[in-house]
Amino acid sequence: MAGKVVVFGSFVVDLMARIPHLPVPGETVKGPMFKMGPGGKGFNQCVAAHKAGADVTMITKIGKDSFADVALNTMDELGMVKDHIFVTEEAGTGIALILVDENTSQNEIAIVSGACGMITEEDTDSVKELIRESEYVLLQLEVNQDANERIADYAYRNGVKVIINTAPYSEISDEFLSKAYMVTPNEVEAESLTGIKVEDLESAGKAAAVFKDKGVKKIVITLGGKGVFISSDGREEIIPAFSVNAIDTTGAGDAFNGGFLTALAEGKDEWEAARFASALAALSVQKLGTTPSMPTREEIDAFLESQG
Ligand code: ATP
Ligand code: RIB
Repeated sequence: MAGKVVVFGSFVVDLMARIPHLPVPGETVKGPMFKMGPGGKGFNQCVAAHKAGADVTMITKIGKDSFADVALNTMDELGMVKDHIFVTEEAGTGIALILVDENTSQNEIAIVSGACGMITEEDTDSVKELIRESEYVLLQLEVNQDANERIADYAYRNGVKVIINTAPYSEISDEFLSKAYMVTPNEVEAESLTGIKVEDLESAGKAAAVFKDKGVKKIVITLGGKGVFISSDGREEIIPAFSVNAIDTTGAGDAFNGGFLTALAEGKDEWEAARFASALAALSVQKLGTTPSMPTREEIDAFLESQG
């Protein structure tokens, strides 16, 4: 049976426009399509894990406004546990403005964390029991960092494995990193955090060595369409991505992290977990949106079977 896992992180409403090219400063670009939906790295990762079959609980904070209903309605529709969604009147629910270039699939994102950037000590204290009962806790860098630090510290001291998805890039302390069992940066974040440009197996290995020196045991660097680098127990390899027709890669990292968490909780090793997570991500990039693009377990299993 799979172990319990927690995702502690952001919920924001994604306001996404698809446009012919990304604007330069001062430019207005007309676009053919707008979509609003649930998002935020934490929420995307939790939904990915939930739909993939994990016993996962989301911890986040929302406002008291109509955007909050986007979170609550989605959780109801998917049958997710809502017991640890904090609510505040002091800020609105977070939002992300996302522009996607419909020709290249590249994106630009502006995020206002709002409520999920105001997680208090009282909030984090109230989830201690849930954390203690879990095997893994997955964090990102989209909520207020003091809350992340309290959760990482508490989990670490109680033997719960902490996975830090270092996205979006922000400066973090070595003390915080030292609480991580695993980090999952993308190649840009890996370079910002280690000073090493990640281009191939050799440079990824050098970046991994920097993380290891800071106390991290397992290093997973996602490389977009090129796949994922894994350093675990002395073995280092790049697992290639599945070849698919990607139309929107926003949230690919979240899909991967949710899938990886699910597979680890099922007892799979990092190599098997990478294949499972890559399949989940490959399915998600073929659909528009972030949270709404996460596939079901049936879809993931069928895809993996079709790939042999
Ligand atoms: P984002 O910030 O857009 O959420 P990210 O930069 O955190 O993404 P990536 O490294 O781009 O994450 O992608 C994560 C994983 O998703 C990759 O390791 C790969 O398995 C899968 N993936 C990404 N892009 C593609 C693609 N074009 N085709 C197939 N798989 C992809
Ligand atoms: O990783 C994608 C997510 O980042 C989007 O859902 C958006 O909310 C931004 O925070």
